[in-house]
Amino acid sequence: MTDQTATPRAFSASVPLKGRIAIPGDKSISHRSLMLSALAIGESRVTGLLEGHDVLATAAAMRAMGATIERQDDGEWRVHGVGVGGLLQPQCALDMGNSGTSTRLLMGLVASHPITATFVGDASLSGRPMGRVIDPLAQMGADISASPGGRLPLMVRGLAPAIPLSYRLPMASAQVKSAVLLAGLNTPGITEVIEPVPTRDHSERMLRGFGAELTVDTDGDGTRHIHIRGEAELKPQSIIVPGDPSSAAFFIVAALVVPGSDVTIANVGLNPTRAGLVDVLKQMGGDIELLNEREVGGEPVADLRVHHSNLKGIEVDPAAAPSMIDEFPILFVAAALAKGRTTTTGLDELRVKESDRLAVMAAGLDAIGVRVEESEDGLVIDGTGGDPLPGGATIAGHLDHRICMSFAIAGLVSKAPVTIDDIAPVATSFPNFEALLVGLQR
Ligand code: S3P
Repeated sequence: MTDQTATPRAFSASVPLKGRIAIPGDKSISHRSLMLSALAIGESRVTGLLEGHDVLATAAAMRAMGATIERQDDGEWRVHGVGVGGLLQPQCALDMGNSGTSTRLLMGLVASHPITATFVGDASLSGRPMGRVIDPLAQMGADISASPGGRLPLMVRGLAPAIPLSYRLPMASAQVKSAVLLAGLNTPGITEVIEPVPTRDHSERMLRGFGAELTVDTDGDGTRHIHIRGEAELKPQSIIVPGDPSSAAFFIVAALVVPGSDVTIANVGLNPTRAGLVDVLKQMGGDIELLNEREVGGEPVADLRVHHSNLKGIEVDPAAAPSMIDEFPILFVAAALAKGRTTTTGLDELRVKESDRLAVMAAGLDAIGVRVEESEDGLVIDGTGGDPLPGGATIAGHLDHRICMSFAIAGLVSKAPVTIDDIAPVATSFPNFEALLVGLQR
């Protein structure tokens, strides 16, 4: 049966990409800025907020729990918070759409408030594992009833006061870390998260920025011990959200692989816990220049100038994975155009993203004529050395924005068009993706 509501879109061989673009705000930072502003007492202001569906789901949920959140005509967002401990009982289920970050972080917040919330989401989100947050939050006293397999729909009955916890992360996940830290915000005493493999640290940075007492100690082996003192009082802030490196990634790779391209991407967040892709692409021979390096909203930022490059295949160090976990789909496209073999390992977490990104990328790349082998925890790709890909297939995006955008870029370097079965999911993280692409093709 065909889906009558799907919007297919074809992408074909492109002229050189030229010009300068600014990408939208960082998704992770946007979610956190709304959540923490909604827990501060007084008015916070957020500029550069990503207005994608995922972040709007967070905004709607925080409103449903008592915060006032309004967009001004100039694009600034104003948030009046309820104070830590002040979240109200939502009157209906919280619709998380496609957003794992909204779901897991908000489950953390609800867990230590005296309220009950039901979480629902789309087909992709309803297939994703929530046991990873249910376990620690249940240890803190929340009563959580989930659908079979620890999935959505699920209901969280919070406990206040909750029980402080020392929790060692069993997998590298910023969402699980953040869920526990956010639960710790309204929990008496000290909540600890032990993080053997560092993941994105936006929650830590922003919690401190809002005035929470949060410390990080790092062991000799790199394990991080993060402590937060609960019953915190958050002070309202003015936040500038830097551009999202995970969105920039599609245009970085597009400029590298489309012959003759010269693109400058302004305002790209380069927090070291997020910037792994740039290093890996440089190792592959990518010509990426960092210009105008500066700090925006407590995060390192630069403009990136990217020229078309002859890429070569490499073995990607699995230790780099957490700092580029969302960038593997587009890295696989770069690998498909590189000379020689690219090998990736240690990517089991990709199987529980918006789709199983190893299986879905392998199937799609195979369909457009790329030589690809899927292993348990990675892909091995033999690239063309810059020759165009055959293309000429319709790709199932599986409600995964990053799959859709990765194959859109692959279409730009394919002999026959690459069609995405439904382009709509792109709006979860990058509403103006197509408009920016067209602008660079003029
Ligand atoms: C995110 C953490 C990562 C990432 C996701 C956003 C966050 O997920 O894939 O897109 O904002 O904390 P995991 O925590 O599952 O690795």
